[in-house]
Amino acid sequence: MKLLIHSAKQVVTVSNKDVTFLSGQSMKSVDVLENNNGGVAVAVDSDGKIAAVGNTEYIRELWKDSDFEAVIDATGKCVLPGFVDAHTHPVWAGDRVHEFAMKLAGASYLEIHNSGGGIYFTVDSTVRCSAEGLYKTLKDRLMKMLEAGTTTVECKTGYGLETEAELLLLKVLQRAKEELPIEMSITYCGAHAVPRGRTPQEATEIIIRDQIPRIKTMMKQKVLCVENIDVFCENSVFDTEQSRRILQAGKEIGLRINFHGDELTAMKSAEMGAQLEATAISHLEEVSKKGIEAMAMSGTVAVLLPTTAYIMHLRPPPARQLIEAAVPVALGSDFNPNAHCLAMPTVMNLACVMLSMSMPEALIAATLNAAASLGRGSTHGAIQKGRVGDLIIINADKWEHIIYQLGSHNHLIDFVVKNGKIV
Ligand code: NIG
Ligand code: FE
Repeated sequence: MKLLIHSAKQVVTVSNKDVTFLSGQSMKSVDVLENNNGGVAVAVDSDGKIAAVGNTEYIRELWKDSDFEAVIDATGKCVLPGFVDAHTHPVWAGDRVHEFAMKLAGASYLEIHNSGGGIYFTVDSTVRCSAEGLYKTLKDRLMKMLEAGTTTVECKTGYGLETEAELLLLKVLQRAKEELPIEMSITYCGAHAVPRGRTPQEATEIIIRDQIPRIKTMMKQKVLCVENIDVFCENSVFDTEQSRRILQAGKEIGLRINFHGDELTAMKSAEMGAQLEATAISHLEEVSKKGIEAMAMSGTVAVLLPTTAYIMHLRPPPARQLIEAAVPVALGSDFNPNAHCLAMPTVMNLACVMLSMSMPEALIAATLNAAASLGRGSTHGAIQKGRVGDLIIINADKWEHIIYQLGSHNHLIDFVVKNGKIV
């Protein structure tokens, strides 16, 4: 056996039922095991899977402490599932701190983007950087995410745009996936912006005829493991029809559809994504009522990104309407040069305050439902026998402190455990 955590004040299992996501009313509360008499415990087996959860006394009837490679006394503390960050852009060089100043002075995101800044500014610094340099900054960012409790993270490309540059970013992500203790779900996002000097139509053809087939070949050769396809479906980026074609082509090579939609402009992205049976759509600040209904019907996860709305003074995405319509809602940090946030505890706090989500809703969105957005709803995001042993231990006697204490996660998180291993 790998790990025993015993005597905890609370173990937040998120759900005790055999579910792959939670929606609507079932997001109202999380399942918590609590016992004032000896506390609660979690045991992880040598495969890194959860072997048992229950009262410390009961677990100690099953195994002795000496059966475990590591034992943690969690007296007075809480155990939660590791967080799943459903949306990040972690591989790029440089920064955009000057644009932060421009936005504070009133410039809009699309104004900056259309005048050659924004994503284009980051593409320029990224393509000038070596693979080794990109890997170093990527590793540093991912390790900080892990320290903040994220054990699984979705990671997009999108700062290469042209074929060779995008493939290089995929390789850098693949290296991190193989070498680092954080679990990654890699997303190809070649359609993050239209490369300079090309029309959206030309870029669409290059993606479909050149980039996607190259990725297919590399996946066959097992040099790459890409899971999702993304596009930035937005006015003056890729329109809804171009987005549909790109996503469809990705789906045909076995990728899950998981894309940026209805963020700055109502594009009917949600309606289009639901038609394609997208696994997830991110942003959705401008989603229509019909789009929400379509997502509920197709079971598409809504990945909400409160950092973006916060930084860009956008109307926040309609979390309440999505939850009321029984769309599974997940959260992501959207870590990128525009929204420089690596920590899911901060994201959950923003989701509660800005999107009017309750703390249980935010936790479900940052664990089980985020796992569902990455096709991991039956294996990750909850503390149940047979699921992965991805856990965090916080030094507080009520789990809600991890959301309530804004900016304090570094002081609250005592241990992060990935596959039963303390990292
Ligand atoms: O999710 N909307 C498009 N992509 C990112 C921003 C990327 C950037 O500005 O560099 C987002 O917010
Ligand atoms: Fe994004």
